[in-house]
Amino acid sequence: MSVSPDEFRAVLGRFPSGVTVVSTRGADGSDQGMTVSAFCSLSLDPPLVLICIEHSASVHEALTTAPGFAVNILSARQEQIARRFSIVDIERFEGVGFTRSSSGYAILDDILGLIECRRVALHEGGDHTIIVGEVEATRIEIGTPLLYYRGGYAQLEH
Ligand SMILES: Cc1cc2nc3c(=O)[nH]c(=O)nc-3n(C[C@H](O)[C@H](O)[C@H](O)COP(=O)(O)O)c2cc1C
Repeated sequence: MSVSPDEFRAVLGRFPSGVTVVSTRGADGSDQGMTVSAFCSLSLDPPLVLICIEHSASVHEALTTAPGFAVNILSARQEQIARRFSIVDIERFEGVGFTRSSSGYAILDDILGLIECRRVALHEGGDHTIIVGEVEATRIEIGTPLLYYRGGYAQLEH
């Protein structure tokens, strides 16, 4: 049985996710970051998470070569940040407020949570690379998450 790309997208769109910006550093030390919804927890002991990054993504090289990365979990107020970090061919960090983690990765202002990782494994998955990170530090803040559902941004209704 084969599934058309439209059917595949439609059914995956029924699975809501949070939205993150994954940041790392390029070989030249430049800040690199992209919007990523394919993020999930993997293991508790040791603490592992994974992200899935398309081979063609401009940040793919940095994420597969840098020692690690930081997962910025976006809050409901950060839809514009999610949009900005998915735009092609712009300087994504320009005008964006951020500080630096102890490992040197960008921590965006106003996030809901932060997961700093050391890269421990790479696996091939079709047109994506599955990047596994061991969690070295975390931070949580009060707030509500930004969600992605059926191809659009959404928020929790309580
Ligand atoms: C809500 C949202 C979630 C995304 N999630 C992923 C993802 O999990 N993995 C991925 O490789 N690209 C993801 N992207 C696409 C990248 O953020 C980015 O748009 C893409 O890599 C094109 O930019 P580039 O040309 O700089 O690579 C997502 C985009 C949006 C808007």
